[in-house]
Amino acid sequence: MSIPTVPLRIAVVLFPALTALDVFGPLNALNLLSIQHSMTLSLLSTDLKPVSIDRTIIDGVYQGMPSWQSPNLTQLVLPTHTFDDAPDFDVIMVPGGSGTRNLNLTKPHVDWLQGRMDDPNLQYMMTVCTGTSLLARTGKIAGKNATTNKAAFNWVKTVEHAEDVNWIAKARWVVDGNLWTSSGVSAGTDMTLGWIEHVYGRNESERIRIQLEWVSLNQTDDPFAEIYGLV
Ligand SMILES: *[C@@H]1O[C@H](CO)[C@@H](O)[C@H](O)[C@H]1NC(C)=O
Ligand SMILES: *[C@@H]1O[C@H](CO)[C@@H](O)[C@H](O)[C@H]1NC(C)=O
Ligand SMILES: *[C@@H]1O[C@H](CO)[C@@H](O)[C@H](O)[C@H]1NC(C)=O
Ligand SMILES: *[C@@H]1O[C@H](CO)[C@@H](O)[C@H](O)[C@H]1NC(C)=O
Ligand SMILES: *[C@@H]1O[C@H](CO)[C@@H](O)[C@H](O)[C@H]1NC(C)=O
Repeated sequence: MSIPTVPLRIAVVLFPALTALDVFGPLNALNLLSIQHSMTLSLLSTDLKPVSIDRTIIDGVYQGMPSWQSPNLTQLVLPTHTFDDAPDFDVIMVPGGSGTRNLNLTKPHVDWLQGRMDDPNLQYMMTVCTGTSLLARTGKIAGKNATTNKAAFNWVKTVEHAEDVNWIAKARWVVDGNLWTSSGVSAGTDMTLGWIEHVYGRNESERIRIQLEWVSLNQTDDPFAEIYGLV
């Protein structure tokens, strides 16, 4: 893909108990990219209610998730569109987080992603961390190389259709055609910088990396696979 001359339409999928850095690391890089390049950002959810980070809190009520000591500690993200009124996108990003383990709550997300995987407008699908599990559940990445959070690697391999994916244990991120998938949490920002380099060139990715004061790991540099006993 050459550098887009029209606004690049980016979407981020939200669900309760998503991981903050999965979304806001990549978005911080994209915020800096948008200074030089024209793009739009949509934040998608089932409805327009605020979406809780790191805890499942719906209408102000804690709905479970791990028995952490601080059930009400969250930050709220405001969606801009629902899945039903979402426009076309060039790039869709899917974060991870403990909310991906709630298979019922994330079913609408999986259904919407399943439809969008066939959308000819879509140029890149990117997942961070356990966000790859939502995409695996669509059955639309069968035969593709992909990675995911190393702490949750063996769980992700148990979701529906995961057995059809070629899971790469040792990778900071994996590229297979237009599918970009990253390892856990901070890896999403490395992947986003890698994607910016791929689309906009090394100078632009370096400009942004230096503004972020970000020390990158490259695509193959993954010390965490070993820490989690996967290699
Ligand atoms: C969390 O918030 C709910 C609803 O406001 C409240 O009933 C509960 O006591 C709070 N729990 C803690 C541990 O603060
Ligand atoms: C998830 O949905 C299924 C089918 O509707 C239902 O049987 C199951 O109890 C639900 N699980 C939870 C944890 O809500
Ligand atoms: C997928 O991963 C395998 C190693 O498991 C590699 O040989 C192959 O080239 C990769 N395919 C793509 C499209 O990157
Ligand atoms: C990238 O930056 C270098 C050093 O500033 C400059 O020489 C080069 O022309 C730039 N390349 C592009 C494609 O802008
Ligand atoms: C990635 O980083 C590792 C560790 O610093 C290094 O050994 C390797 O050469 C790097 N690979 C690329 C393609 O830059």
